[in-house]
Amino acid sequence: MSGAVFVAGTDTGIGKTHAACTLLHALRAAGHTASGMKPVASGCQETAEGWRNEDALALLAASSPPRPPYAQVNPVALRDPLSPHLAAAHAGVTITLPPLRAGFDALRAGGRFVVVEGVGGWLVPLAPGLLASEIARAWKLPVILVVGLRLGCLNHALLSARAIAADGCRLLGWIGNRIDPAMEAVEENLATLRELLPAPCLGVLAHGEAPDAAAARLDLAALAALFTTPGSPGLSEL
Ligand SMILES: Nc1ncnc2c1ncn2[C@@H]1O[C@H](COP(=O)(O)OP(=O)(O)O)[C@@H](O)[C@H]1O
Ligand SMILES: [Mg+2]
Repeated sequence: MSGAVFVAGTDTGIGKTHAACTLLHALRAAGHTASGMKPVASGCQETAEGWRNEDALALLAASSPPRPPYAQVNPVALRDPLSPHLAAAHAGVTITLPPLRAGFDALRAGGRFVVVEGVGGWLVPLAPGLLASEIARAWKLPVILVVGLRLGCLNHALLSARAIAADGCRLLGWIGNRIDPAMEAVEENLATLRELLPAPCLGVLAHGEAPDAAAARLDLAALAALFTTPGSPGLSEL
């Protein structure tokens, strides 16, 4: 049995997929068999094999070979590029956790460390009464918060950290992502994040650097406990 983490973001479009792919490359470089997962994806294209999503394909490409089946990596693929609860309503389906869990369990049964990418920000609705945060909470996944470095990110990062704690989840660490190459006072903002966020920085990803090249920027020390036990501490009760 292997561990798993949930990659949350301060917002949509701030580099969750980029950071999750970088994390997968870092895990593989450290000798782990790792796979990405995008439980719910909205904004999918129809192909001969079914609906496909860019994030899920990027995570799949960054995963250890042999690559798992698409349906395990992305159990729910929705056409419309909307909040998942709206995209699901447009498709006439209701998102529930069990099909997502089946994909997750299949990936873990293959002995893989699973990097689960969240959907949008922490509190994005998946269905009536179901928020994306419930995936991390119900599956007891430690959380890595990707902070998209741009004006406003301090507030978004602190709000996210509070919400993660309020939901009873453990923030393992955070990754700074240079999404805006024109951002001013980056080092000062990073120093503020280091001071105010209640978990260590695992690394800062430069703008325009590919995930495989950026992997060396990540420090996996905060994840060590997830590798040494049979399953992560958070997952042992499952
Ligand atoms: N460090 C970076 N440098 C350059 N482009 C980036 C970086 N991080 C993300 N991007 C780009 O920004 C967009 C959003 O990133 P993505 O990882 O898809 O965000 P999210 O998964 O949070 O929606 C994508 O086009 C991605 O290629
Ligand atoms: Mg993404």
